[in-house]
Amino acid sequence: MRGATYTRRVERKLATILFADLVGSTELGASLDPEYARDLLDRFYDAMEAEIALGGGTVEKFIGDAVVAVFGAPAAQEDHAERALQVALWMQERLQELFGGRLSLRIGVNSGEVVVGRPREGSSFATGDAVNVAARLEQAAEPGHALVGERTASLVGGAFELGAPRTVEAKGKEGGVACRELLRGVGAPRRPRGGRGLEARFVGRRRELEWLEDVVARARADGRPRLAMVVGEAGMGKTSLVREFRERLPAGTAFRLGRCLSYGRSVTYSALADVLRQELSLRQEDSAEDTLERLAGREILGLTLGLDVVGDLDPRAALLRLQDEWVGLVSEVGSRGPAVIVIEDLHWAAEPLVEVLERVLSKAEGPVLVLATTRPERPAFPAADMLSLERLADDEVAELVEAALAGPLESRALELVAGHAEGNPFFVEEVLADLLDRGLLERRDGGWSLRDGALDLGIPDSVQGVLAARIDLLPAEAKGALQAASVIGRSFTPGGLAALTGSSGEVRTLVERGFVRPTQPELVFKHALTREVAYGSLPRASRARLHAAFARWLEADDATDGRAGVLAHHYSEAVDPGIAELAWRDREEELGQLTAEALRWLRRAADLSLARFDLDDALLQLHRAVELAPGESELWHAIGRVNALRFDGEAMWPAMQKAIELTAGREALAELYAELTFESVMRGGMWKRPLDHGLVESWLARALELADAGSAAHARALVTKWMWKDEAEPAEQAVAIAERLDDPVLLSYAYWARSGAAFVGLDFHEADRWAQRRFELLDRLTDPDKIAHIQYYGATAALAAGRPDEAEMLVHKHDIVASRLSPHHEVHALGVILFVEEALGHWDEIRRLQHRVERAVADNQGAPCVLNPRTLLSCAVACGELGLDAEMERLEEAAAEQGFEGGDMGFWLDPPPAHLALLRGDLERLDALLEASGATWHWSLDGGLYALATKLEALIALGRTNEAEEAATPLLQPGTYLEPFALRTLGLVRSDRTLTEQAVERFEAMGLGWHAAKTRALTPV
Ligand SMILES: Nc1ncnc2c1ncn2[C@@H]1O[C@H](COP(=O)(O)OP(=O)(O)OP(=O)(O)O)[C@@H](O)[C@H]1O
Ligand SMILES: [Mg+2]
Repeated sequence: MRGATYTRRVERKLATILFADLVGSTELGASLDPEYARDLLDRFYDAMEAEIALGGGTVEKFIGDAVVAVFGAPAAQEDHAERALQVALWMQERLQELFGGRLSLRIGVNSGEVVVGRPREGSSFATGDAVNVAARLEQAAEPGHALVGERTASLVGGAFELGAPRTVEAKGKEGGVACRELLRGVGAPRRPRGGRGLEARFVGRRRELEWLEDVVARARADGRPRLAMVVGEAGMGKTSLVREFRERLPAGTAFRLGRCLSYGRSVTYSALADVLRQELSLRQEDSAEDTLERLAGREILGLTLGLDVVGDLDPRAALLRLQDEWVGLVSEVGSRGPAVIVIEDLHWAAEPLVEVLERVLSKAEGPVLVLATTRPERPAFPAADMLSLERLADDEVAELVEAALAGPLESRALELVAGHAEGNPFFVEEVLADLLDRGLLERRDGGWSLRDGALDLGIPDSVQGVLAARIDLLPAEAKGALQAASVIGRSFTPGGLAALTGSSGEVRTLVERGFVRPTQPELVFKHALTREVAYGSLPRASRARLHAAFARWLEADDATDGRAGVLAHHYSEAVDPGIAELAWRDREEELGQLTAEALRWLRRAADLSLARFDLDDALLQLHRAVELAPGESELWHAIGRVNALRFDGEAMWPAMQKAIELTAGREALAELYAELTFESVMRGGMWKRPLDHGLVESWLARALELADAGSAAHARALVTKWMWKDEAEPAEQAVAIAERLDDPVLLSYAYWARSGAAFVGLDFHEADRWAQRRFELLDRLTDPDKIAHIQYYGATAALAAGRPDEAEMLVHKHDIVASRLSPHHEVHALGVILFVEEALGHWDEIRRLQHRVERAVADNQGAPCVLNPRTLLSCAVACGELGLDAEMERLEEAAAEQGFEGGDMGFWLDPPPAHLALLRGDLERLDALLEASGATWHWSLDGGLYALATKLEALIALGRTNEAEEAATPLLQPGTYLEPFALRTLGLVRSDRTLTEQAVERFEAMGLGWHAAKTRALTPV
């Protein structure tokens, strides 16, 4: 079973490749006897191989007189880039030593994704574009020099001095390859952290600092050496904590610090070498003689520094002597007073160093605290006090981010970054630096925010290196289990894992090593990033097969709707078009079955999401499905429909057109055309530019021509025709068809058409009757978008018919249904609330909603809507009425910035500015607005009431009394909202006090106090 789907031989790695080529060997070879030439090459090979080994690299191959080495593969190394550059420098030095100036090396170094596999005779085990680029860089380098690719350069940060960025030409690389010249190493810090230009401020870790202060105090009290260990994952802040701790040490405490190194020359005792140099004030560059002189009497300590001091002594005896000298040295330090000796990165310590430490701890005297930092992979010292460094708390991460960026990060972005970095301060810094490098963070309002759409934070190379190296420390079987589990997801069950690897036995190791946490009944990856890195290390073809195996197992186990999303995910990953051909080569039948399963579950998952009105998720599933079956008209149709629900016209059109292209049947085509035009026109507010009339008309004509008389498509097309042409007759026909078909959705829209037609005809009670009939359909509807539509128009119809309380109640009911559907629906919910409140003159109420309006409009920038500017204008009017002029102007500007063109939108967008022009006494503007669109202000049932009332006022203000009388007369319908406005207008035009008094009475009866008061104020005494 094992290995059926999982092959461990091939892996993807982020690695650094080094190409080095000997220059001048041909010329030299020509002048030499072949035996000498051979000897020369052998010495070259041996020397280079030795340097590569010292840096922990792997010789990939020798080609002629070139050598290729890989760092970070086959086993990942977090510092692969540094190692490669260090080796490049060593190679140059070594060549100089061996051959003087007679030969020189050209070197190219580059980092990138490679695939490593089983090496075949004479071929490479690492392949990928990064390898080719390294070769190109080597060819472009001058003899004696090394060129470094950009990705390598950014990985090593400040650890090496590099030349200015430049581009070199390279075959097959358009625009050349960006690189820098390697100049020299910078020395001490192997991995400079917190660099990258970010500010660092130490945060949190209060408890940990107290703990450290406490152990120092205890060492002092005991008068004996003590060992304390700070354990934490890479980047958790061990080094930083020690640095901060040092700052707080009481004056007079001696402090020595040494680092264990992951690779290099004489690294065995490197940490103690650092301590010894500090203790004896030795410098790295001091000569061996000088050093030995300083060590007089205890020369054996020179072993720590890699000096040849053993002489004839038996090696084991030498080690014991060395240990005793260290006991003496530490006791000497202790005899002068309290001291702290830090051994950094004990996880890289070699055994001889550990032995020295053990001896020192058991035999030395004096108040000395030996403080070691280590990653968890190292087993603990039994006698040590242990401090475990855990992730930073969210508020600490926020503080760290703010300090790093020298300004706050906007909350959504902060949440994203903090979640991604999982409280690891190194990851936080690297994620930020990576986002800055990629230009995804931008300054805004004194702080920082993430550029729109930057949701995929990615894994910075540095973090990837750390995590991959940690994974590669696992035994092969456990690592295989981790990789397989990563295919399942962030959490997995032992059963699921066993389905992929044949057993769940490795779970224990994974838990012990801290990769996964056992919860009931599942196991969870401790860090999402670890999962991502493990997943990324699998070849894509293996991933695909593992996804297939898991999907089949899961489906056999439990194929219910609750699993639809998960099954859709695994099946579709299994047949991902990007890799399917490779993953399922020669297994076409299997690929076909898997694709069918993927489509089935994607469709199911999309339907279920749609039922929850999770439109984004539904679209995601449908898009994946259509990638697998681009010729399925039905899928395109579904995508079009979901986009209509999201009010995303720009996305709806191409999808619907694609569906039309792929459809042959007449009735099916009629349906598509009918839906396309219906949605385009019904959701007319979603177009920033006026709809292309010619196009819409041609579609409508197609729909009417193709649809069978009396069919659903026919009814839909008729409703559209009413909307488009504003003719009442199609609305009546649509009702007749819908009633015959007894389809609740069609009925709802057909009644809506009749209601709208009545409103445009200024018959308010009739408009209300049809709108109210729609409520009887509610029991038969489930789609919340359709339910919301009924409430939305029902509210304004009730207001038209003089029932403001009911209108207010309905807009709030609508708000509850609609605002959670999508940002666009929320703007609609607010829009209709404002239509009602502004008609009622409830300016305080609107002002109260203003904050929510601005936020909702900001959230709805993705899908345009005329209500974005319209709601802002409504707030501007409220501010104007409340005397908040600056706020009013700001909101007007904000509305203008929404970038909607007038034209078709005039009946939405012009009435509030007319109201403001009235307030400002700007008659010229008022006139212009009426001229532009005034004739159409009654075309919408929702905004139309307020628009008509405003229009009457405007005509009076402009002194156009005849027109005012003409406009008011048909509005004298008893009991309606507009009746008192009409009475007031006629009263003013005719200077008839009884009419204005009647208006006041009617306003009061409806509870429109603000309008009543205003009317009184207008009435001449
Ligand atoms: N408490 C903290 N406040 C602010 N920044 C921190 C804190 N701890 C760590 N950092 C930052 O996180 C980065 C990693 O920290 P540090 O080098 O101390 O981790 P480490 O645990 O020593 O890692 P490694 O195991 O790789 O040596 C540093 O750049 C440091 O600036
Ligand atoms: Mg450290």
